Amino acid sequence: MKERLKEQIDFIDKYLDKYLAEKENPQNIIYKAMRYSVFAGGKRLRPILMLNVCKMCGGDVNEVIPFACALEMIHTYSLIHDDLPAMDNDDLRRGMPTSHIKFGEATAILAGDALLNRAFEVVSEYDGDNVKRAMKAINMLAVSSGTEGMIGGQIVDMESEGKEITLDELRYLHLNKTGAIIRSACTIGALMGGGSEDEIEAVDEFAKNLGVAFQIQDDILDVTGSEEELGKPIGSDAEENKNTYVRLVGLEKSRELSEEYSENAKKALDIFGERAQFLKELTDYLINRKN
Ligand code: IPE
Ligand code: IPE
Ligand code: MG
Ligand code: MG
Ligand code: MG
Repeated sequence: MKERLKEQIDFIDKYLDKYLAEKENPQNIIYKAMRYSVFAGGKRLRPILMLNVCKMCGGDVNEVIPFACALEMIHTYSLIHDDLPAMDNDDLRRGMPTSHIKFGEATAILAGDALLNRAFEVVSEYDGDNVKRAMKAINMLAVSSGTEGMIGGQIVDMESEGKEITLDELRYLHLNKTGAIIRSACTIGALMGGGSEDEIEAVDEFAKNLGVAFQIQDDILDVTGSEEELGKPIGSDAEENKNTYVRLVGLEKSRELSEEYSENAKKALDIFGERAQFLKELTDYLINRKN
């Protein structure tokens, strides 16, 4: 799996490099800061999901490349802002000093904003034959990263620091802060790949479950992981009094739940038969990941 992922990462990075080309102008530092965080590393999970869902639905990956890169830009912006002192206050990301440590807070905030804008520049340049689909995909990108998606989850995460919340409330938080973008990665892949309504629905069910499983494992790694492998600090959640699965139900039960969600995710893909094999293997790989 590692090698297969590496190949796909290299493929995506080629396009990200093109979309994020530096310009020699007075604002050159903003390009440097955007590139610094994007190319610091990262698993490129969301683009990989989008490309593979598109393929699974019988689509042409060229149709989704701009969307896959845009989503990675939005994800990276969310990480830059997530690490700021006003939020999780972390100094290591993707194995490198965080943006605000490297460039200062003002530039880090602007680099995040700039990545968000660049994402929508790239997708709105779409000039293929499926304009109607592309418009819908752009809308999905916006909604999933906004108040009813990632930002919604992030604000609930911040507001509930240090408070007692229920498991249902925590699931809501995870479904939004992490699940929403994983969902749009998959459903945009299905939509642009020409999937039927039933296929898009199945992919959405897959992604909803995968998103929660993925974030539960992220919570687990914050306790059991090593900083070196993770490329980000461990123990950050406890320090910030975060509500996590580990805090609410303990390690053992968290592992059980991530297993349960990942099983549900894989089951949702059964309608694709053999074509779902890679995504099912990826799901198993992700809930056992070390970074
Ligand atoms: C980190 O996401 C933040 C979460 C939503 C859990 P990833 O674990 O996908 O981070 P990168 O992209 O590989 O750095
Ligand atoms: C962040 O969740 C999810 C985002 C929307 C960025 P975390 O705060 O748990 O992510 P890490 O652990 O810092 O990567
Ligand atoms: Mg956070
Ligand atoms: Mg964080
Ligand atoms: Mg975390």
